[in-house]
Amino acid sequence: MTHKVAVLVGSLRKGSFNRMIANTLVEVAPKTLEFDFIEIGDLPLYNPDLDEDDTRPAAWSRFRTDMAAHDAVLFVTPEYNRTLPASIKNALDVGSRPYGASIWDKKPSAIVTGSMGGVGGFGANHNLRQALVFLNAAPMQQPEAYIPAIHELFNDDGTIKKDDTKKFFASIMEQFGIWIDKLA
Ligand SMILES: Cc1cc2nc3c(=O)[nH]c(=O)nc-3n(C[C@H](O)[C@H](O)[C@H](O)COP(=O)(O)O)c2cc1C
Repeated sequence: MTHKVAVLVGSLRKGSFNRMIANTLVEVAPKTLEFDFIEIGDLPLYNPDLDEDDTRPAAWSRFRTDMAAHDAVLFVTPEYNRTLPASIKNALDVGSRPYGASIWDKKPSAIVTGSMGGVGGFGANHNLRQALVFLNAAPMQQPEAYIPAIHELFNDDGTIKKDDTKKFFASIMEQFGIWIDKLA
């Protein structure tokens, strides 16, 4: 059975290593998973006052519609100041409303965090997990994926240097495929 997976990348910068990680995860994933990158950099900051039919930003509606059309979500994000980048937090907030129509409810999800430091975005990973649990999404527990020293993983053309890293990424995606299948 095939599943549609939305990929959200928390870094907005052009040369993002997390986006390279996301590209590699997609490349090594089981063929039963179909991926779409859903961009979140253009989402206005969530403001409940604007969430009415005549004032709602088009980007919020577009994001909610896109996410509702996907069976699962893969988050790949850096850690900013030991927590989530605002881009991801804002996407969570936008998707969680209007009240009762959250696009996160029962959504199988996987979290991969990457940082230049040695801790691999542990803080961001678990802050995201905390929000997803509250939102009644279904974040995969194992394998955990905290990727350290991300600036050392890739060649200049964005391909990954080590086979071992690629194998680890493939194992994450294999388990994610099984997780989605179980919850489908
Ligand atoms: C605002 C900001 C805050 C950061 N805070 C952290 C942090 O808390 N922990 C960490 O390991 N790296 C931190 N970094 C460094 C990131 O790991 C590094 O910039 C990484 O390359 C970002 O991912 P990207 O290449 O996908 O953009 C921070 C970077 C920025 C721009």
